[in-house]
Amino acid sequence: MILKRFPPMGVYETLFRFADATGKYMGDAGTHPWAQGYPLTTQIPGGPTLPTSIEFDHLDLKYPKATGEPPLLQAIADYYNYFYDAGITTDNIAVFAGGRPAIFATLAFLLDDTTVALESTEYTPYYDILNVLNRNVHLIQSNAENRFRPAAKDYDIAPRAGTSRVMLVKSNPCNPTGVTLDGAELKQLVEKFSASDKGALIDEAYEFFCDPEPESALRHIDDIDATNIFVIGAATKGLQVPGMRIGWAVAAKQHIEIFRNYSSFGMGGVSRASQIYVTGLLQRKRVAQSRDAISKFYTGQRNRYAKGLRDLGFELFTGNGGFYHWGRLPQGLTGNEFNERLFEHEAGILPGHLCDMGRTDADGSTLDNFARFSFGPLSADSFAADIEFLRQCLSCVHAFVCPASVGPLRSCRTKGVHNSGARNFRSAWRARIFALAQC
Ligand SMILES: Cc1ncc(COP(=O)(O)O)c(C=O)c1O
Repeated sequence: MILKRFPPMGVYETLFRFADATGKYMGDAGTHPWAQGYPLTTQIPGGPTLPTSIEFDHLDLKYPKATGEPPLLQAIADYYNYFYDAGITTDNIAVFAGGRPAIFATLAFLLDDTTVALESTEYTPYYDILNVLNRNVHLIQSNAENRFRPAAKDYDIAPRAGTSRVMLVKSNPCNPTGVTLDGAELKQLVEKFSASDKGALIDEAYEFFCDPEPESALRHIDDIDATNIFVIGAATKGLQVPGMRIGWAVAAKQHIEIFRNYSSFGMGGVSRASQIYVTGLLQRKRVAQSRDAISKFYTGQRNRYAKGLRDLGFELFTGNGGFYHWGRLPQGLTGNEFNERLFEHEAGILPGHLCDMGRTDADGSTLDNFARFSFGPLSADSFAADIEFLRQCLSCVHAFVCPASVGPLRSCRTKGVHNSGARNFRSAWRARIFALAQC
């Protein structure tokens, strides 16, 4: 073995566990993909249809341009200039094969003497990327005590020893919490990280999924060329096409040039077919309809599921963005314990500890009793069945409660009362991951 070893990112851990336990891929027909971070890929109420074909000719079979094809770059620039008065040109945009490659490239090419600051509850791949790149990290506490809403002063961060600048990495809306900075708060954050010894990667994968309307940091940046700010967008969520693998970075021209150079030796550009498809999705009238419909539909879903989950005993901390609910599980359950029950019924949530940016292999996580519930892929008509199903899984857990004590799910299990099949799957899976992690 000549490669560095590392485990898959958190969401995939859950998907592998699910596949081991059920023999299916989460998202297959009949499964309940509540751990999954993808949106509906079909027309939503009030939204535009999703094209099922594209046209291209032999010229489109040539290599794509290093940082993106001109029509897509123009469509992205027009989009931000129209909706957010961003004042950018096509030279401020680099196209990648999805949001994560844009995030990875930005963090990979940071100068070494940079502190990377991020909230302690964040999007799972940040943890993997920062570990693999061995970045010097400062964690901003985001936990139940501050309701996963750090105060403005928590972003006043000094560079760590041996570094001379600070780069903030923040998903906004936040995955998993849905907490979203907008208006004056977002403006203040952008201003703070526009200073010359600072930078920020603002990950706006869920830009359309905001209540009352989509929001972008680009609304508050007057001259992006004078900043070290990177706004990352993608067609993955709002435009409903995760399979197209198109994402982008909007940044100062000098930073885009670095991405262009990288593309020339490390990426070779991005599929022209996908770029053609996404260019069509960004046409003004269509994208305006999409923004509006996504924001309304998912706000409705967020509100319904909030009530449903609260009635079941979840303590929710969810903000007003994204397509997840974030909360503490009822009955003292951990995310992994709840998944064992759910997997038996081909359902699963994302255990909270996978969003803990400070976790270590040795210790438990303060987010062990938290879970991220995704309503992204759920159609409007599955609500009643979903909630009923969750209720049954929770009362099923109740049925195993020992009369002698409260919250004794674990002790019941140790007596072999509960779910030995799933336990065997789990140990087999653990053995596999340990083999991965420890060699
Ligand atoms: C916070 C956040 N950023 C970025 C992405 C982009 O993902 P992709 O690489 O699939 O475009 C996602 C998708 O889950 C996300 O949740």
